[in-house]
Amino acid sequence: MKASELFDLKDRVALVTGASSGLGIQFAKALADNGAAVALVARRADRLAALKDEIAAKGGRAIAIEADVTDRAAMARAFDEAEKAFGTVTILVNNAGVAQKAMRATDVSAEEWRRVLSVDLDAVFYWAQEAARRMVAAGKQGAIVNIASVLGFGVSKGTAAYAVAKAAVVQTTKALAIELAFKGVRVNAIAPGWFVTEINDTYLNSEAGLALKRDIPMGRFGEAGDLDGALLLLASEAGRYITGATIVVDGGQVIGLKG
Ligand SMILES: NC(=O)c1ccc[n+]([C@@H]2O[C@H](COP(=O)([O-])OP(=O)(O)OC[C@H]3O[C@@H](n4cnc5c(N)ncnc54)[C@H](OP(=O)(O)O)[C@@H]3O)[C@@H](O)[C@H]2O)c1
Repeated sequence: MKASELFDLKDRVALVTGASSGLGIQFAKALADNGAAVALVARRADRLAALKDEIAAKGGRAIAIEADVTDRAAMARAFDEAEKAFGTVTILVNNAGVAQKAMRATDVSAEEWRRVLSVDLDAVFYWAQEAARRMVAAGKQGAIVNIASVLGFGVSKGTAAYAVAKAAVVQTTKALAIELAFKGVRVNAIAPGWFVTEINDTYLNSEAGLALKRDIPMGRFGEAGDLDGALLLLASEAGRYITGATIVVDGGQVIGLKG
């Protein structure tokens, strides 16, 4: 099969959470560029509307849905709206995420722990669960792509809640994959290295951030488009026998030993 056919997403309906910023914008564009109709989800409606217009200007199909991923009623409404516009969601990109306020693990408050875990883990599970239930009920095959992090494998100081959540996303991916494989729903994850976005721009542009860049074997942070290949592989027919996997896309960061 030709690569253009293997990765083609026409007739597919995607929903991307956290599509108002950073990696989510790029994921939505990559899916739309390859033929998927895309439901854009986040809280900042103005940004979603701008992205929707940008996708439409290139001949793509998108709708903007304002929703907080921690709100289960808003989640159901988002899937309903996407279904009404385009049909059953068959690709979910579980991307919305927040960073933890940098602090020692012993100083993390119960509120901060819950804030991070509710977006970075609980919502990932609930949105995947909802997407899978609807795919199975509609008799459709589908793909769920969870966005983990290299901090799901290693840890750095001051990131306890975030790192725990991302490690759990890797395990959530496997736990869902093993139960859904037989139903035709594949569940995989991408673990990005460092990409400069709103979640970390202050940190990555600081002295500490630049030191971090020196430890990346490829010598640079990730750039827009660096995750497109992994996303399209996992979302399309090209990845039809892949489930429960986490693809690390980090310029070699996790294999490198410091010093
Ligand atoms: N950048 C990196 O280096 C890096 C590395 C590894 C993993 N990641 C992961 O990649 C994902 C995207 O991060 P990013 O770097 O693109 O960060 P970002 O630019 O800060 O974007 C985060 C997105 O999540 C959305 N979001 C946050 N809380 C939400 C909520 N309660 N409800 C709905 N949407 C919410 C934000 O939208 P609104 O504020 O408009 O709601 C925004 O669209 C995250 O899961 C992050 O952990 C990033």
